[in-house]
Amino acid sequence: MDSFSTLIRTASHEQHVEAETSTFMSDLLGGRLGVDAYARYTEQLWFVYEALEAAADRLASDPLAGPFIRPELMRLPSLERDLAHLRGADWRAGLSALPATEEYAARVRECAEEWPGGYVAHHYTRYLGDLSGGQIIRDKAERTWGFDKKGDGVRFYVFDGIGNPAAFKREYRELLDGIRTDELEQQRVVGECKRAFALNTAVFRALGEEFPLSA
Ligand code: HEM
Repeated sequence: MDSFSTLIRTASHEQHVEAETSTFMSDLLGGRLGVDAYARYTEQLWFVYEALEAAADRLASDPLAGPFIRPELMRLPSLERDLAHLRGADWRAGLSALPATEEYAARVRECAEEWPGGYVAHHYTRYLGDLSGGQIIRDKAERTWGFDKKGDGVRFYVFDGIGNPAAFKREYRELLDGIRTDELEQQRVVGECKRAFALNTAVFRALGEEFPLSA
């Protein structure tokens, strides 16, 4: 039988392709969007990470989710620095969540409160993605909008405390494989991971509608 980390990766592969090739992501990676679209996207990430990380302290002692909570992953302080750079010192005043983002953050909060396994699914979907494809987005953002390399504007994608992302991801997958639950719960977590991808895709869809290309 496949390991849990393989199962969760394989099961979400199709949705990964869908997220990756969404109109908004394609336009962003194709260098076709203005920095305003990037800033709006970064704002949406703030709501998602606020939900993920507000729960971190409490979940740190949870037997299932606890081992995944690592200080070097925390993104909120970096996001806030990026937003101050992108929107100015009063970035909080103009911050607003798209309805799709509200829905995503609400689901993260719900899992954080009621279901540690579901929280892990959301944790995996975001942080392992940020350590992977996130680096491609950072590189593109630096080139397209001229941010300093690994500087303000793209700090969200820079994990200062993680020297070797490949090794970190390997360890993370070992943690996933070490989760001690039955097959039914594993299937539920995989299902939540798919839902997490779908929630991301819905945010991309909404952003795509807000920033259509004047083709
Ligand atoms: C244009 C956007 C994206 C690109 C180019 C991209 C690219 C990649 C690449 C190359 C990997 C493989 C890294 C490796 O095997 O070490 C990866 C893994 C991953 N990505 Fe993405 N990705 C994108 C968007 C997303 C999004 C939107 C999500 C979900 C929110 C996501 C979640 C993940 C996850 C969870 C993994 C880890 C899979 C695993 O090894 O278990 N990615 N991505």
